[in-house]
Amino acid sequence: MAEFIALIPAAGSGSRMGEDLPKQYRLLAGKPMIYHALHTLCSTERIGTVCVVLAPDDTEWKRYDWSEFVGKIKVLNCGGATRAESVTNGLKALHAANHVQDHDWILVHDAARPGLSHALVERLLDQLTDDEVGGLLAVPLADTLKRADKAGRVQRTESREYLWQAQTPQMFRTKLLLEALGKAHAGITDDASAVEALGYSPKLVMGDAYNFKVTYPQDLKLAELILQERIATR
Ligand code: CTP
Ligand code: MG
Repeated sequence: MAEFIALIPAAGSGSRMGEDLPKQYRLLAGKPMIYHALHTLCSTERIGTVCVVLAPDDTEWKRYDWSEFVGKIKVLNCGGATRAESVTNGLKALHAANHVQDHDWILVHDAARPGLSHALVERLLDQLTDDEVGGLLAVPLADTLKRADKAGRVQRTESREYLWQAQTPQMFRTKLLLEALGKAHAGITDDASAVEALGYSPKLVMGDAYNFKVTYPQDLKLAELILQERIATR
């Protein structure tokens, strides 16, 4: 039977946040940001292991008590220069140590998406377990799209029909993901696009707005409100 393994790349520096502290450790609702996605993934019964990929020079992880996740998490200090490298290094290490098999499902989830809910993870697992390719959480675009010219004026309005914003987790089998990432070019910013480059069409599974990526300082307030409410109603 194929197992479900989550992999959280958490080796970024959070340059767009503009703080010295990498954003995955920024406190939200009293916990480092990464805690929230870890809590959701670790408490999902169908997921057997949650692997966290840290930067080799990470000094923050050990400042916190992660004992509530003991037995379920594996921490690897093999992050790379890009997200794709961090995911590749983590997955290769798990594969080499026989912790994942070729047919196991890997759910790659950004540490910077603390608003992931159980309902979304369960929906992703339900919709993809029997899928040939795998897929990802995503949301249809809500706003009207404008294409700009070089002077910053509207050239035209683009149709938003069939346009989705990619989220995570992105879920693929080990073998396909390793092959895709091995061939990925430098500009790739998610796992699905590496798989697409091999000619596959990942399935889009409906995500939600709470699962947004915390990227800029102005994202923090919204994330704080969402997580405070989550924790209060847990
Ligand atoms: N990530 C990673 N290794 C990298 C770069 C990013 O593991 N070399 C992780 C981040 O820690 C984050 C996720 O990939 O959990 C999504 O990346 P992003 O939001 O871009 O985070 P950062 O790269 O840290 O931020 P920025 O791009 O603003 O520097
Ligand atoms: Mg980045």
